[in-house]
Amino acid sequence: MTAISLDRLRTRIEALARFGALPGGGVTRSAWSPAHEEARAWLVDDMRTAGLEPWIDAAGNVFGGLGMRAFDAARPAVVTGSHIDTVPEGGILDGALGVLAGLEALHVIRETGAGHGRPLAVAAWSDEEGRYASLFGSRAFCGKLDAAHIPEMAAADGERLVDAMAGAGFDALRAPEARAPAGSVGAYVELHIEQGPRLEEAGIPIGVVEAIVGVRRTRVIFIGQADHAGTTPMERRRDGFLAAAEFALKARDLVVKRGSGRSVTNFGVVHVHPGVTNIVPARGELIHEMREPDPAVLDRLARECSALAKRVAKRRQVQVEFRPLSATTPAPCAPRVQAVIEEAAATLGLPTQRMHSAAGHDAQNLAAITDAGMIFIPSKGGRSHRVDEMSDWDAIERGANVLLHTLIALAS
Ligand code: GLV
Ligand code: MN
Ligand code: MN
Repeated sequence: MTAISLDRLRTRIEALARFGALPGGGVTRSAWSPAHEEARAWLVDDMRTAGLEPWIDAAGNVFGGLGMRAFDAARPAVVTGSHIDTVPEGGILDGALGVLAGLEALHVIRETGAGHGRPLAVAAWSDEEGRYASLFGSRAFCGKLDAAHIPEMAAADGERLVDAMAGAGFDALRAPEARAPAGSVGAYVELHIEQGPRLEEAGIPIGVVEAIVGVRRTRVIFIGQADHAGTTPMERRRDGFLAAAEFALKARDLVVKRGSGRSVTNFGVVHVHPGVTNIVPARGELIHEMREPDPAVLDRLARECSALAKRVAKRRQVQVEFRPLSATTPAPCAPRVQAVIEEAAATLGLPTQRMHSAAGHDAQNLAAITDAGMIFIPSKGGRSHRVDEMSDWDAIERGANVLLHTLIALAS
């Protein structure tokens, strides 16, 4: 049976892992950074070595085509891919696996001539992790990028997307030109590590994604009053940080108790102003993130959390402001693609489990323009977004072979 070369895939994964490598393992390779741009150049070269036709679009997405050099509605392509940017202090597989296994699969299809009637492409979508704007490249490609917002897109540290892209030789304002012609993508399938513990704990080698969670991010700002931290009596303080802290703890409980059982929440960014020891915080600022696969549940939780923040603010005599940052809607995967993945796995003798994705992925954007699906493989210890993220090499081989046979079936 046609199979990928694990040696070749492993060499590719280890080569990409050197761009932005950290001394203690893992990698920091933010979109548009020098490490990322070196990785992009390496990827383009490697696509050429594999016999693919590489090109880069206005949003910085990298494509390697087999039987195509551009998207064309007259010849809808079967597309695979993921991303080569990483979170800060991330692992070597998140994103990289989907791009490099896709590249390897197309390399094998080219070498063996395995029945591809349709054109195929592997994509590395830009800024999936959202240093500046999450899922930026796939949003542009799928026509979901609001051009008016591009000048405001910025990293948490204030660096603007337009400047970061200019540094890498791109004009951010032209990114919407990356939009694919309607009907030019016939199907999309993405291989990814699960990033959680479910497959490993169930002893199942392949996950078939049914839906990808929606993610809401809101900046919540509690505004109290700066005061002397020594002389102000405790009962008179209007502390913006303590209101934020109380809200974070209570919102966590609310999401656990009133969510679907799949709902999760996180407070990964916290700022205290003015942030010195001898002033009562005038302001406590949080970025509140919530994820859930059912859109109705996500809406309800968002309403309940905002009511909770107002109650906390009132009791603590501070003001609260909300600034919505982003909101993606949960994306169902196409039953046709799920069935093809399951058939491919069955052909390889691999048990599968249907599951939802608790992480965001470019596939959620592609799902709006074509039949999209995802293949998951187990993550060791469920670890991801950390330097020791890893999967067994034989798990990687199994996943890449399921991807290969899924692509062959979709393209035939
Ligand atoms: C993507 O990595 C996410 O945060 O879900
Ligand atoms: Mn990630
Ligand atoms: Mn990812």
